[in-house]
Amino acid sequence: MSSQSFPQWMADIQARVEHALERCLPPSDVAPTRLHQAMRYSVLGGGKRVRPLLAFAAGELAKADPLRLETVACAVELIHAYSLVHDDLPCMDDDSMRRGKPTTHVEYDEATALLVGDSLQTLAFGVLAEGRLCDDPARQMELVSLLARASGSRGMAGGQAIDLDAVGKPLSVEELEFMHIHKTGALIRSAVQLGAACGNVDADGQDRLDHFGKRAGLLFQVVDDILDAEADSATLGKTAGKDAAQNKPTYVSILGIGRAREMADELKAQALAALEPFGPSAQRLAELTQFIVARRF
Ligand code: IPE
Ligand code: IPE
Ligand code: MG
Ligand code: MG
Ligand code: MG
Repeated sequence: MSSQSFPQWMADIQARVEHALERCLPPSDVAPTRLHQAMRYSVLGGGKRVRPLLAFAAGELAKADPLRLETVACAVELIHAYSLVHDDLPCMDDDSMRRGKPTTHVEYDEATALLVGDSLQTLAFGVLAEGRLCDDPARQMELVSLLARASGSRGMAGGQAIDLDAVGKPLSVEELEFMHIHKTGALIRSAVQLGAACGNVDADGQDRLDHFGKRAGLLFQVVDDILDAEADSATLGKTAGKDAAQNKPTYVSILGIGRAREMADELKAQALAALEPFGPSAQRLAELTQFIVARRF
């Protein structure tokens, strides 16, 4: 067991990731300055950094080099930041607040927000391809393609397409789970996989970690649905009550708040059970699972 408290560990990784992101983003005084400023505005100084934290926690379990973990943490967070910029656009959720600030298209303009998303996505793959994640170049290529699958039409972007298509439709619980597993679960799962891949975990351990990542990913979006229904905008840093206002099917709208909370507890228990065989080496992953459920924003 680490002697460092969880809040302290979390703050350290968040600060470390902030610096690493700061270094991989283009400087704001380099042309095209407005695009670069908007990229920095969209990534820096906000967000819980849950995906980087998961990559670091899985990497610690696998005894990975923290410098390699910085690379995967940045790549996944850049994809996540891009997904938020696009998620907030008027053609998607049409949101005006994110991380307690005006959304990128409100602060800049829609075309810039679109290009910010494009640029963050390609930057993520550049970072992943150029950094050194493992000693075997063929294995590194596999990791680049893992992130591509998690982000694309069979992962996050596909989940977003399902989300838009589902507006106003009474989805079954299975359909809802399919949507959430893609739009949010895939990237969270990839954060765990990439973190572990920077170190050494046997095949059995990889399977268990992957099972953990899948449960944690779904759990994350179930809690997001609950917070959207229950929290206030000031605490969330984004517009509360958006899902109901936009007629989005969520765990709360389909199952009701009580059953949605039970689902979150069940998923938490499943995620923690997958970690059990790892013993104390999974301490940070277990603490992060608790954090994902207990968070207020
Ligand atoms: C919000 O993600 C969007 C979802 C995928 C549910 P986060 O809750 O991780 O957002 P930040 O990065 O902390 O702002
Ligand atoms: C967003 O889901 C998922 C992605 C950005 C891929 P939501 O639309 O529920 O996220 P918030 O609530 O706006 O953060
Ligand atoms: Mg959305
Ligand atoms: Mg949204
Ligand atoms: Mg939401």
